[in-house]
Amino acid sequence: MKSVLNLSVEKVKESRIKEVDFNNIPFGKFFSDHMIEMDWHKGHWETPKLRPFQNISIHPATSALHYGQAIFEGMKAYKTESGEVLLFRPDKNAARFNYSASRMAMPTIPEDQFVELLLELLKLDRSWVPTGEDGALYIRPFMFATNEMVGVKIAEHYKFMVITCPVGKYYAKPVSVLVQDEYFRAFPGGTGAAKAAGNYGGTYYPAGLAMKEGYDQILWLDVVEKKYVQEIGTMNFFVQIDGEVLTPPVSDSILDGVTRMSVISVLKDMGYKVSEREISIDEIVEAHKAGKLQAAFGTGTAATIAFIREIGYREERMALPEFDDNYVAYKVKDKLEGIKRGRYEDTYGWNVSV
Ligand SMILES: Cc1ncc(COP(=O)(O)O)c(C=O)c1O
Repeated sequence: MKSVLNLSVEKVKESRIKEVDFNNIPFGKFFSDHMIEMDWHKGHWETPKLRPFQNISIHPATSALHYGQAIFEGMKAYKTESGEVLLFRPDKNAARFNYSASRMAMPTIPEDQFVELLLELLKLDRSWVPTGEDGALYIRPFMFATNEMVGVKIAEHYKFMVITCPVGKYYAKPVSVLVQDEYFRAFPGGTGAAKAAGNYGGTYYPAGLAMKEGYDQILWLDVVEKKYVQEIGTMNFFVQIDGEVLTPPVSDSILDGVTRMSVISVLKDMGYKVSEREISIDEIVEAHKAGKLQAAFGTGTAATIAFIREIGYREERMALPEFDDNYVAYKVKDKLEGIKRGRYEDTYGWNVSV
């Protein structure tokens, strides 16, 4: 590929990789040696910098801190058994980053440039990509407004950065989710489909209440009818009822998950009937009562596929059936993870080699 980049590179003098115990990596706490930094001033992007990971200094009036003009992405790089490093569908994250940027009135980044910056960073830090069944290098591109003034207005200055961290398993065991009908995550016309920082901060309070009741996550309902399931924390939601796999259609209130779209393709190719349609919580309760609720699972880059063992709604605590080898979430997880890690042939052309 011909480079679209004019990149300034400064390498670390000594790697910190020895400080990390790769057999026991907490999610999101250890960062690789390098990072990307690129500033937007006066209507254009300045030369991107690939430099040692370090703190940045910001003005106390940095506008993102006050008014929340901040977005991010989340993706992973995997190492195959032969040592090749693969990035999964980075074009989709680049496109979604730009969707989020436009929705938040921020500058976009040409998609090929976004991907090329990630590849340059990964080439330098490839030894940080863990091997092993659940290991991956989590990649966090983000952008925030850097105007140095108090005042509610679209900023003229922004900082784009990419940092990465080696990670292991996200959930150690199947999760329980609480259907929330008092607090809502997104609304029509809002920012629910963007990866805007504020979307997440607003969920902490109700998520904390759910945790006090013993649940891991919230399963969000739509705010208009208060009955259609939408998504879970940082995952899209799937349910299997009477053989058919269902997931809510994406909208301006639901994130268009890369894992979600990949799971739909893989399930269809495995012969499952998959429908993207509205699913009411009443339909799930009825299916559970009739013994037709076979499986529920969440999909997302961090957790990959999280098996759901229990769904709580008002007085109901619906236990999902025990998992076996025929369990749909297990089968799709094996296939998708296998493709990402080079264990199965990537017939879709999803992987990009670093
Ligand atoms: C709100 C929300 N929904 C769903 C997802 C899953 O998206 P993806 O599969 O692209 O990671 C994420 C994670 O990015 C998320 O933050």
